[in-house]
Amino acid sequence: MAFQRVCSIDDVWEGEMQAFPIGGKQVLIVNGDGGVLRAFDAICPHQEYPLVEGALEGNILTCSMHLWQFDIGSGEGVNPTGCKLKVYPIKVENGDILVDLEMVA
Ligand code: FES
Repeated sequence: MAFQRVCSIDDVWEGEMQAFPIGGKQVLIVNGDGGVLRAFDAICPHQEYPLVEGALEGNILTCSMHLWQFDIGSGEGVNPTGCKLKVYPIKVENGDILVDLEMVA
């Protein structure tokens, strides 16, 4: 496990998402309803559009390109099903958000 700092917890408020470049990748930090904090590969698995351009409503992330929807709790596709975001382990330490890019769920 090699957790790396991505940003401060204050950079992504509840109900928001932000993409950050780290380790040669774009990591999407999502802070959903009730403080559900997740880290995903920031590129849509459908046709590689940046997910940060989409919308976050509750715990559903909608890609703006073709409106695929994902449950941020699991990263699983809601509409359509059968797809999944790449989920990175995430933790908060001393007010910083850390992500392990080597581990993908
Ligand atoms: S690229 Fe995201 S839904 Fe098509």
